[in-house]
Amino acid sequence: MKGTILAGGKATRLRPLTWVTNKHLLPVYNKPMIFYALESMARAGIKEVLITSSVEHLPHFIHLLKSGHDFHLKLNYAIQEDAGGGIAQAVALAEDFAGKEKILVILGDNIFTHDLSKAVVEFEQQGRGAKVFAKKMPTDSKQYGVIELDKNGKVISIEEKPEHPKSDLAQTGIYMYDSQVYEFIREQKPSTRGEMEVTDLNNKYLAQGTVTCEIMDGWWIDAGTSYDELLRANNLVAELIKTGNQ
Ligand code: G1P
Repeated sequence: MKGTILAGGKATRLRPLTWVTNKHLLPVYNKPMIFYALESMARAGIKEVLITSSVEHLPHFIHLLKSGHDFHLKLNYAIQEDAGGGIAQAVALAEDFAGKEKILVILGDNIFTHDLSKAVVEFEQQGRGAKVFAKKMPTDSKQYGVIELDKNGKVISIEEKPEHPKSDLAQTGIYMYDSQVYEFIREQKPSTRGEMEVTDLNNKYLAQGTVTCEIMDGWWIDAGTSYDELLRANNLVAELIKTGNQ
C-alpha cells in the first residue's frame, strides 16, 4: 500500500500566517506541521509517499524533505495546479504513482496519536472499498464532515459540514481507498463551494456499500481549521514530548 499527503489548499482561515508560506510548513511546537503526517505514514508501515502541493509551494517541500531518507520513506512529489481544487482532485494525482495498489491518504494538517499500522494490514487484505477514520467531537462536529453509524458500526451517512449534524463523529482527514477511487473521482462534480469534496467521494463508496469506519484512539486535531486549533496542536505536542511519550 502506498501513501499520499495532501499539502495544497489556500489556507484562508489561517491568514495572515499563510499569505507567503504554506500552512503545512507552519511550526507545530518543534517541527513543521507536515512532519507529523510523514511520521504517521512511516509508523503505519508505508514506504512510498506522494506529496502534493501547489506549483508555488512544492519546491519548499522538496527543499525541506528531500528524498525522505530522514523519515525512512521514499518521497515523490506532484503539483496540484488548482490550489482550491479540493481534496478529491488532489487524491486523483496519485493515480500513476499508486497504480493498482491501495492508498492511504492523510491531510497534511491532521495531527493525531492513533497508530494506523493495524488498519493498513487489514485494509491491504480486504477486497475492494474505502475506510474512513472518525473522532468523537462532542461540541463542534459541524465544522467537519460528519459520519453517522448504526448500532453495529456500519456507516449510514456522511455529510460535509452539516448545519444539523446527525452525530458527534467528525470525519478526520485520514482515508484508505482501493484503486477504484480514480474512476469515482472522474465521475465527480465540484460542490457549490467549487471544490471536489472528499465527502462526495466517500459517498460513492457508501452507495456501493463498501465503506467502513474506524474510530480513532487518542487525540486528533485538524490544525488548519483555526488559530485556536493550531495553538491546541502546539500545546498537545509539547505535552507529549515533555511527558516522554514521543
Ligand atoms: C476536510 C474535509 C472534512 C474533514 C476535514 C478533516 O475539511 O472536507 O470532511 O472533516 O477535512 O480535517 P477542510 O478542513 O478541508 O475544510
